[in-house]
Amino acid sequence: MKGIILAGGNGTRLRPLTLVTSKQLLPVYDRPMIFYPLQTLVSAGIRNILIIVAPDRAGDYLRVLGSGKEFGVKFTYEIQERPEGLAQAFIIGETFIGQDSVTMILGDNLFFDEQGQIRTAVKSFTSGGQVFAKQVVDPQRYGVVEFNEQMVATAITEKPTAPRSSYAVTGLYIYDSQAVGFAKSLKPSARGELEITDLNNRYLERGQLEVQLFTGDWLDTGTFDALLQANVITAERARRRA
Ligand code: TTP
Repeated sequence: MKGIILAGGNGTRLRPLTLVTSKQLLPVYDRPMIFYPLQTLVSAGIRNILIIVAPDRAGDYLRVLGSGKEFGVKFTYEIQERPEGLAQAFIIGETFIGQDSVTMILGDNLFFDEQGQIRTAVKSFTSGGQVFAKQVVDPQRYGVVEFNEQMVATAITEKPTAPRSSYAVTGLYIYDSQAVGFAKSLKPSARGELEITDLNNRYLERGQLEVQLFTGDWLDTGTFDALLQANVITAERARRRA
């Protein structure tokens, strides 16, 4: 299993903070944000990690993260020239992925996985696609999953104006190497992006997508309030551990 941390994007909602550096390097309590998703991958036993960054921030990442030796892993870096969608990561990562499976995590998503659900999913993954859903108060900001009575996912819709459930797809995706071909077959959406929801739907329509409910806490830190909340929660957790 290989890993990808997607850490490009514009971070427009966090300006002017993101004029200083990339969103995923901003502080979350006592460390740069990207350390949290990195820890999620490392805890799942993933050692070979591709970090995808925006061109003007590559130097910052290299300086902060280095080769990966310090974290007991190996980093590869790739540039995403323009933020043309989450699914583009699998095209950029084609050579890196090869014939292996891959877990991609968004560089601004924090998973507090007390029960080791992600590690278990990564360790037991064989083929197809596996994502996690979590109930949120603002599903229209996310890919929204509908489930049938057996809690089997039946549809995923990207940022629906009238969400048919409150389950959002979280920013961690486990795929087999089909993801590369599927990503290449996608057409850009109205906002000009290769949508991860469309990629998930490639798996779903083939009956190959498993959607599990995430039992831990999940934070997406893309707005000021979410970033503040992430700081408060991680500080509280650190204090409880001390
Ligand atoms: P977003 O939060 O949707 O986008 P953003 O980070 O550019 O922020 P804003 O909307 O405020 O401009 O992206 C989610 C994550 O995915 C985030 O970690 C950035 C990353 N990303 C990429 O690396 N490349 C992309 O093409 C996109 C769309 C996002």
